[in-house]
Parts: sequence; structure tokens; C-alpha cells
Amino acid sequence: MGFRIVGLLGSPLAGGNTAKLLDQALLGARDAGCEVERIDVGDLVFRPCREIFYCREHGTCAMKDDMIPLYRTFAELDSLIVATPVMTMGIPGALKSFMDRFQVFFMAKYMRNSPLVPEEKRAHRRGLYIGIAGMNVPYVFDGAKLTMKAFFSIIDVEYWDELLTRDMDNIRDITTRPDIMDEAYRKGFRLGELLFEKNP
Ligand SMILES: Cc1cc2nc3c(=O)[nH]c(=O)nc-3n(C[C@H](O)[C@H](O)[C@H](O)COP(=O)(O)O)c2cc1C
Repeated sequence: MGFRIVGLLGSPLAGGNTAKLLDQALLGARDAGCEVERIDVGDLVFRPCREIFYCREHGTCAMKDDMIPLYRTFAELDSLIVATPVMTMGIPGALKSFMDRFQVFFMAKYMRNSPLVPEEKRAHRRGLYIGIAGMNVPYVFDGAKLTMKAFFSIIDVEYWDELLTRDMDNIRDITTRPDIMDEAYRKGFRLGELLFEKNP
């Protein structure tokens, strides 16, 4: 049986430091035997949630934009990697708006008791959060982590692991830190490998 891991990039830079770590993790997941797909939030055209609550009764959104086909992608994925820089002590606005549009999943799961994620997938969906931040203070990921955990829970993904790198203002180029690049690969590989284990 094939497994699919999606990597969601929250940075607007398609080839920046966050993207490099995400690509390493996806490479690991692919080497573990999974199909992988990278989705850049910066490439998508969509509007923020407008609270019209069409999703209270429907398993999709009334706003017909790039989010619509992604609901299926996110219902069917086997595991997820979200990679994002910290911006203004949280996640970038576009990524937050992307996550808010998963109110469609929230309504289905909590209001209609009819999750969009198939039951056989719910048991094994795990999430890896890759975060980087310019500052070197201990609380720099606190806001982003709260959002990440809420998002994972709404879309039935277990918050499995994280790779958090602070002090990017000094590191500047993540490729000068092969230890962190390797760790991203290893975590991606393990995330993929776990899907093939019967009772991990
Ligand atoms: C608009 C903006 C806001 C930022 N806000 C913060 C912040 O509040 N705290 C922090 O530690 N770093 C902050 N940063 C720094 C980024 O987290 C850091 O530069 C990161 O390495 C960018 O990754 P990227 O190049 O892959 O996008 C901010 C960067 C930008 C562009």
C-alpha cells in the first residue's frame, strides 16, 4: 500500500532556509518509501475565512478558490510536514489564513460528528513541525506551536515531532549547519518509515 506525505511551506521564499529544511525532510520521507508532495502557500490564491459558515452544513467552502481541491489532498494524506519561519512571534499571515480555511474540517469533525478524514487514515496520520526563527529567545516558538497543534488536531494529525531552529539571524544560511539539515532528513525518513510499521 502506498503512503503519501505532504510538505506544506509557510515561507514566501521557495528556496529559502525553511524550504531547504522542508526539502530535506521530504527527501527522507521519499527514501523511506513514501510518495511526497510539496505545497507552497505562497503559490496559492485564496481569501481568508469570512465566517459565512457555509461549512456548517457542507464539507467544503463557499469561496471557490485554490483551497477547494486541497481539502481532498488534506483529507487523504497519510502524514504531514509543516515548515515555516516565525513572523511577528507567530506564523506568517498567509499560512495562518490557509489554516483558518480548515474550518471546513472543524465543522465536519466537531459540529456534525462526521470527520472528512477517512477512519483508516485517522489512526496513523502524524505531523512534523519544522520551525525557524531569527531571534534566539526561548519563547520564540510558543505562538507558532499553539497554532500548529490546533491545526493538526482539526485535521486529525497527531503532533508527532518538531525540529525548531532559533538564532537564524546569526546562522543566516542553513546549509552551513549540516547537523540541522541531517536532522530534517532523519525526521522525514522516520515519519515515512513509521507508516510501514504495523504497531509503531
Ligand atoms: C515579516 C517578518 C517577520 C519576522 N518576525 C520574526 C519574529 O517575530 N521573531 C523571530 O525570531 N524572527 C522573525 N523573523 C525572522 C525569520 O523567522 C527568519 O529570518 C527566518 O529565517 C526566515 O526564513 P525563510 O528565509 O526561510 O523565510 C521575521 C521575518 C520576517 C520577514
